[in-house]
Amino acid sequence: MNKVLDKLNWRYATKKFDSSKKVSTENLETLLNAGRLTASSYGLQPYEFFVIEDTDTRTKLRAASYDQSQITDASYVIVLANKPTFDVTMIDDYIANIMAIRGLSKDDLEGFSQTMKSTLLGLSDAHKNAWTSNQAYIVLGNLMTIAAEMEIDTCPMEGFDKAQYNEILGLTDKGLNAAVVLAVGYRSAEDDTQNYLKVRYSKEQIITHI
Ligand SMILES: Cc1cc2nc3c(=O)[nH]c(=O)nc-3n(C[C@H](O)[C@H](O)[C@H](O)COP(=O)(O)O)c2cc1C
Repeated sequence: MNKVLDKLNWRYATKKFDSSKKVSTENLETLLNAGRLTASSYGLQPYEFFVIEDTDTRTKLRAASYDQSQITDASYVIVLANKPTFDVTMIDDYIANIMAIRGLSKDDLEGFSQTMKSTLLGLSDAHKNAWTSNQAYIVLGNLMTIAAEMEIDTCPMEGFDKAQYNEILGLTDKGLNAAVVLAVGYRSAEDDTQNYLKVRYSKEQIITHI
């Protein structure tokens, strides 16, 4: 038996959570730290995590999510928010963080800093938004996989109104944008979706070895 594939076959995009079962704060902490350890381009981490437990906020978010029940019935809703635009400050802050953590000087990092600035600062806002949003999706993938490893259920969600999420969570004022959502909890025994066979292209259709 391949344990990795067993876990990935076990996971599915949960449609109905059991609201009486709650993921422990310790497991949530592990999951969030796993998310924080996700790789990002240059290591810039151009996103933040918002963990929503508050009932009133979740009721509002559900209304902004085509009434999908996962938003109120999961243990937690994690909103991954990307930076829709950025300037030199984001790069300078990151360089300062590396200096502090690795005990390096500004001069040590000047080449790296200039590389990031010349590559990223000239991008259009639309391109910056797409690029930082892509980074947030890498976090999403990691969170889903790690959760499955821990036998915690998740539902990745794009079915929501970003403008409404930004308003409800005050993200725009923080220079952020709701990129994608992950509901985290335990599946309901009544969720028939858990019994559906996986629909995936075959290896022959989707993988090319060169
Ligand atoms: C980025 C992304 C957004 C998704 N948005 C939703 C959503 O809003 N609501 C939902 O019920 N499922 C959503 N899904 C779940 C997919 O439909 C599901 O992952 C896909 O059909 C494969 O099935 P499985 O994950 O159960 O194996 C989303 C999945 C991804 C990766």
